[in-house]
Amino acid sequence: MRRKLVAGNWKMHGALAQNEVLLNAVAAGMAQMPGADCAVCVPFPYLAQAQKQLQGSAVQWGAQDAHQLAQGAFTGEVSATMLKDFGCRYVIVGHSERRSLYGESSALVAEKFAAVQGAELIPILCVGETLEQREAGETERVVAEQLDAVTATLGVQALVKSVIAYEPVWAIGTGKTATPEQAQAVHAFIRERIAAQDATVAQEVRILYGGSVKAANAAELFAKADIDGGLIGGASLQADDFLAICKAAQN
Ligand code: PGA
Repeated sequence: MRRKLVAGNWKMHGALAQNEVLLNAVAAGMAQMPGADCAVCVPFPYLAQAQKQLQGSAVQWGAQDAHQLAQGAFTGEVSATMLKDFGCRYVIVGHSERRSLYGESSALVAEKFAAVQGAELIPILCVGETLEQREAGETERVVAEQLDAVTATLGVQALVKSVIAYEPVWAIGTGKTATPEQAQAVHAFIRERIAAQDATVAQEVRILYGGSVKAANAAELFAKADIDGGLIGGASLQADDFLAICKAAQN
């Protein structure tokens, strides 16, 4: 049975003093909830703080992006090997905000995915369609293209030490959650597509749902057969909300 994972994506939010309160509260709450994994993906400058406060707790931490190369003349960039120095476990790659606002292609995302695994960290690969794509009946085509970019270049086995996050773009930060049935349908599609190449990998890989997950809808989503937890944006910034979601993920 796949162990559920709830990962917070703080995006560009946070400040030292407020993070301290939030991280302490999440660590304290998770000490009482051994039935699921929990992580927070924080902005780069706060990784040292996350490491200091979360080390030894039940909460893991990670980053929201990484460069595809280990080092070089790339002003402003951060490599996966640097993230490894701060005890990260997870790195989000291919978030829709990176794809749409920073022009990241699926090919580049696959390179980042490989770099993260090369540093022995776990990529959280985000996939998902826009509203126009959904309305045009292109959801499966789009998600398949984003997924295949990784498996075609790195092989399906690369998914073993990874997490996939299905995040319909129209549900991110909009308050519009996919219904549990809509989410389950795409999760099942992703798992079947992987199973066509390797049934064991498909059974083992965790597929998270992301997009306006909150305490009120988490349990229904997580009850679906192919939904193995959530990637949480807005609701990960409030300890009570985030912990309520983690509670809904307990086995
Ligand atoms: P949201 O963001 O929970 O605020 O919709 C999810 C995400 O972008 O990962």
